[in-house]
Amino acid sequence: MKLLVVGGGGREHAIIKKLKENPDVDMIYALPGNGGIARDAICVPEIGAKEIDKIVDFAVSHRIDFAVVAPDDPLAMGCVDKLHEVGIACFGPEAKAARIESSKVFAKNLMREYKIPTANYQVFDHPEAARKYLKTVSYPECYPVVIKADGLALGKGVTIARTPEEAEAAVKSVMEERIFGDSGAKIVIEEYLTGPEVSVLAFTDGITIRPMVSSMDHKRAGDGDTGPNTGGMGTVAPNPYYTPEIAKICMKEIFLPTLKAMREKGCPFKGCLYFGLMITEKGPKVIEYNCRFGDPETQVVLPLMKTDLLSVMMAAEEERLSDMEIEWLDWKAACVILASGGYPGKYETGKEISFKKQFPENVTCYHAGDKLKDKIYNNCHNTAYGLCNIRSDGGNIDADKSLVTSGGRVLGITAVAPDLRTALKNAYAAADTVEFDGKYARRDIGRRALEAESV
Ligand code: AMP
Ligand code: GLY
Repeated sequence: MKLLVVGGGGREHAIIKKLKENPDVDMIYALPGNGGIARDAICVPEIGAKEIDKIVDFAVSHRIDFAVVAPDDPLAMGCVDKLHEVGIACFGPEAKAARIESSKVFAKNLMREYKIPTANYQVFDHPEAARKYLKTVSYPECYPVVIKADGLALGKGVTIARTPEEAEAAVKSVMEERIFGDSGAKIVIEEYLTGPEVSVLAFTDGITIRPMVSSMDHKRAGDGDTGPNTGGMGTVAPNPYYTPEIAKICMKEIFLPTLKAMREKGCPFKGCLYFGLMITEKGPKVIEYNCRFGDPETQVVLPLMKTDLLSVMMAAEEERLSDMEIEWLDWKAACVILASGGYPGKYETGKEISFKKQFPENVTCYHAGDKLKDKIYNNCHNTAYGLCNIRSDGGNIDADKSLVTSGGRVLGITAVAPDLRTALKNAYAAADTVEFDGKYARRDIGRRALEAESV
């Protein structure tokens, strides 16, 4: 089979490595892919993940059997719809179902209508109306308030305003200055919830839902959850706060009602549905939905998956997930992100990455933001470079000097082990053998999970 994966980050690398385990897979193209992914797939850096028409043309001309659209933007832009139109089977929701992530207003109204537990909220489409409302929110009793841009905003659209001044500043920058463009035409102002956060990714065909093992992201840049929000600095799985009792409540009150709501709204959700949950004193509540695999959650969840990923993805597309049991390794996984110094603010790129030691078994390096120096991989799909590696064990790029940094999050180092402490120790030990100028990692990934485990 010939597969195509749209995207070029750590999440896509984890998906590709897992897809390759299926012996029927002859070839995987990554559009655009990245330097490290080029060890496992044929990268096409000329085609970006948002260039929908080019992606569709490529899929047709390369006779792709199955496509996986991983990032939020192409999903919201209708990449799956367009691939379906030309008869290509895909994993991922069509645009109208992707609204569950691309419009917070849509998601919140859906939850209100179907009584799915979430923070109380109001929607505003005019800054003056938002200001008028904020004047009625008493300070400090009812603060913080949470202000969210309606549309996609690279994960930066949420402000936790601790004072009326911060709330006003958020309204101004999002709605008037439009720092996120049209994503800020509407905002949601919602109640601030507290409690541990849990990410649950789930395979669904619109009717049946198969949750994956739970995970915990670490979104803030600094140790002890300080500093600005990032795309995620590390993850562990499973999440100790997601007990079997909580899982049962989530299935009944959140997962199944969400699928039903999407069907009844005429946009059944097929693909990977991500539930960002908060376990509050009043039970689990939805903080956000994503219409895709989370990043870096995927880098800890997929390594624990025993069942063949391609078979599950095809079953989701063909609406036969109910026939499928998905098995998980009863181990723990930890992923430490190595980022460029300065991320999520300004950072430099082009730093040579050196792998001092080969990673031990059970440690994997997922590449998120790197590229091959000297552009060797331009046109690599015309060379043996990608082709020869499709069945090899990619990732052992120790002693390789040809990769340079090209993004904020550069690498995700994942270790799996029978217990979390060992997984974390091995992930950090491997992460410490990788070097590039300005390398930055949080040192406390998994600390809260270990504490929770010991309670
Ligand atoms: P999001 O971009 O929607 O993932 O939100 C980023 C982060 O903001 C979440 O992971 C939460 O930590 C936090 N957050 C979002 N909504 C709320 C809320 N209603 N109460 C408390 N924290 C929130
Ligand atoms: N890690 C959170 C996300 O993928 O949005």
